[in-house]
Parts: sequence; structure tokens; C-alpha cells
Amino acid sequence: MVKEMTRSKILTLLHSETPAEEVLVKGWVRTRRDSKDFSFIELNDGSCLKNIQVIADGSLSNYDDIKKLTTGSAVAVTGALVESVGSGQKWEITAHAVDIINLAPENYPLQKKRHSDEFLRTIAHLRPRTNKYGATFRIRSELSYAIHQFFRERGFRYIHTPIITGSDCEGAGEMFRVTTFDPGHAPLTNDKVDYTKDFFGKEANLTVSGQLAVEMFALALGDVYTFGPTFRADESNTRRHAAEFWMVEPEMSFCDLDGDMKLGEEMIKYLTTFAMENCAEDLELFARFVDKNLMATLETVASSDFVRLPYREAVEILLGAKKKFEYKVEFGTDLQSEHERYLTEEHFQKPVILYDYPKTIKPFYMRINDDDLTVAAMDILVPGIGEIIGGSQREERINVLESRMDECGLNKESYWWYLDSRRFGSVPHSGFGLGFERLIMMITGIANIRDVIPYPRTPSNIEF
Ligand code: 4AD
Ligand code: MG
Repeated sequence: MVKEMTRSKILTLLHSETPAEEVLVKGWVRTRRDSKDFSFIELNDGSCLKNIQVIADGSLSNYDDIKKLTTGSAVAVTGALVESVGSGQKWEITAHAVDIINLAPENYPLQKKRHSDEFLRTIAHLRPRTNKYGATFRIRSELSYAIHQFFRERGFRYIHTPIITGSDCEGAGEMFRVTTFDPGHAPLTNDKVDYTKDFFGKEANLTVSGQLAVEMFALALGDVYTFGPTFRADESNTRRHAAEFWMVEPEMSFCDLDGDMKLGEEMIKYLTTFAMENCAEDLELFARFVDKNLMATLETVASSDFVRLPYREAVEILLGAKKKFEYKVEFGTDLQSEHERYLTEEHFQKPVILYDYPKTIKPFYMRINDDDLTVAAMDILVPGIGEIIGGSQREERINVLESRMDECGLNKESYWWYLDSRRFGSVPHSGFGLGFERLIMMITGIANIRDVIPYPRTPSNIEF
């Protein structure tokens, strides 16, 4: 029996400066092999990518059971932390006792071989036990922390904007409704579903962006941000769209589009550098097995000045490009991922900030430029992804905002509180949204959004 003592994480042990007479580790068997009198167990506890090698010798009382340990089994081990001769790392454990917590049957799906991402999506509950997904979700955790650190160092306050909302930030048609009505038995008035009888007394939805709510706090606390789950019901079945994703949305008072672009660039560089410095071992896995150019891309992102280019000039570049695009571009069309990626990956080969988009393709709250044709919007495009950030300076002039809402066919009454902010102490302010999954994709080189979020939600996919 192992002795009850404080459990050490494998991460800590592998970084130990000194040997130790007795340590306790608990984890899952990745592989096991036997020699004449010993069994070698590669043990992983998820604290880091690397396993620690445990050597169990034949004199252990339950050695016959140890020899039956299978991949995926859970064990507790006490033993001495000793310098390793052959395991390829500094330390290993010579076991004093090995307790078998759970013996995994032979049909454990994660046997030692490479599995496809597609297969691993069908076992999303087990895939974090693989090297690649373990690394992905450790990096995701580190970067969440880094986001808070980035803002905190700059005096931003963290605001928890609601997940259930009564307003539609980005314009109609892509929201998940929240209701307690029984489908098929919703109360009707004049043949229409009567939401005044619903839980909130009006239509409610899952948020598509915390922006409108967080703007109110920028106009009170100065520099703020929200970071939380966001929902979009668009059917786009692409490798960079999910129905549920996490968005980071800073909002700054007394800040124009230029300041907004600066913060976006600074933030992407900061997070990239943070990952390179704090997640080096996990990143190495991606650089070896997922994207051979990963480290070069990350270096470029972290160190180059982002190109700043008006949308109009981007359209000209695209029109002059030798490349054949599936979708045509002209002034006034929304750029597709193929266009964005051409600009950042091929034409400039570094991140690009596009700004001054036509107002016809952007939401009502973006500030109208003097040309009355474009808005003070900006998107940041990065290699491998395309758009990673979308933001703008906000329309702070109440009369302009109201006529823009009319133009967009919005019901001004339901935005009364938003308009209030333009009545009372309105100031220039700006913000943006960074897609957190797209950031993880950029940092790891993982090509599909389904593989950077624990349980992806996409059309017809919600098994877990
Ligand atoms: O460009 P978007 O739609 O901007 C907004 O929602 C603004 N209200 C943000 C703001 O100014 N506060 O979305 C922002 C970012 C995109 O650039 C993209 O990275 C990500 O959110 N995003 C998605 N990520 C995954 N799946 C989806 N369906 C996404 N839609 C947007
Ligand atoms: Mg956008």
C-alpha cells in the first residue's frame, strides 16, 4: 500500500533540483513494458506533457497485478525520485509501492498509436488524455490567465456581461432563443407567440456579444473588458466558426480607432509572446507534429509591425492578385476567409489591420466617417486564420446614431438604455472582440475550431 502523503505533480518532480527519498504521484498509465525483473510504467497526470517513468521491481508484493497494468489504468505510486540513466529525462521513480486505483479494460479507445482528429472528436470526453489535446487545453488555460493579466497590467476592469440578453448586438437573425415555453404549446395572441407570457416577459436570446452591455461600463469605469461565452446560430459549417465560442471584448473611453488598433496589436503580440515563454514544452509538440512553420509564424506575429490598410486598398490588392478566388470582390462586399488569408499569408506575410469598411456591411453602432460611406471599423487578420479581431470606434453622436438605427431598420425604443449613454456624458470610445478559439488556433497551428474548445458546438453536433 502507498503511504498517505502529499501528492506531487509530475510537472514539479520533473523540474526538481534534488532527488527525494519518497514522493507520491497519482496518474494514468500511458504505456508499460517489462524486462526480466522490472516493469517500466510511463505515468502521466496531466500536469505537463511529459510522463515520468516509474520502475516497479519484481519484489513488490502485487507485482503480478502490476504486470497486468493496461494503458489508461489509474495508479498511485510512492517511491524514490532518483536520477535517471535511460529514460531520456533527468528523473524517474523507483517504486516502493504501486496501488492500482482502476484497471482499464483492453478496449480503452486511446491505445498507443496516432488517432485522427476526426476520430478524437467522437470521443471528446477522452481526448484530453492524449498528448495533443492535453497540450491544447493547458495552453488554453494559460492564455485565459494571460488575458486577465494583460488587462490588469493596463488598469482595465473585468465586467461580467450577461449571457441571456434582451437585445441583439450584431443585427438580426443569428441568435438562440431562450424560453421556458413548451414547443408547440406556446401561448398565442393573434396567432403569434406571445412572449409577454414568457419567463422574462419579452423575447430573450443567448448573447452574440457583450459589447453593448460593456460599453455602458466603459462610460463609467473607463477601460473595461468582458471575457465569456458567446453564441451564434448561423449555420456556417466552417473550420473557424462555432455556435458557442469565447470572446474577449475590451472597451475604452476617450479612445479612437487608432487607439483601438494599437490595443489589438499589442494584445495579440502579448499573448503570443506569453505562450512562447510559458507554454514552450507544449508548443514544441505543435511545432513538431501539427505545423512545421509554427514557431516562425509566432515569431513574426510577436515581432513585426502589423500592416494597416484601408479596406478600399485591400480590395484593389485583391482585384490585382493573380490568385483565383472563389468569391468575387468589389468595394462593398464582405471579405471572405480566402481573401483575408491571401492578404495576411501571401501578400503581406504578416498580420494586417484592415480599417474603414463600407458602412453597408457593418453594424449600426460603428462610427460614421466624414465620407458618410465608410465606418471607423477595423478587423485584424492573422496567418492561418484570417479575421481574429473585429472592432470599431463607436458612434457617440446621438443624432447620427439614431438615423443610422433607422437606416438599419432597428427599433429605437428597445435600445433606449443604449441611446441614454449618448444622451448623458457621451464620449468617443472604442473596442473590439477577439475570438478566443481563433487565438488558440493561431498559437497552436490547429486548423479546426472543433479541436481547441473542450466540447465544440456546431450544427448537428452536441453529443457531449
Ligand atoms: O467581428 P465580430 O462579430 O464582432 C463583434 O461581435 C463585436 N461586437 C465585438 C466588439 O467590438 N466588442 O466578432 C468578434 C470576433 C471575430 O473577429 C472572431 O474572431 C470571433 O469573434 N468570432 C467567432 N469565433 C468563432 N466562431 C464564431 N461563430 C465567431 N464569430 C465571431
Ligand atoms: Mg467580424
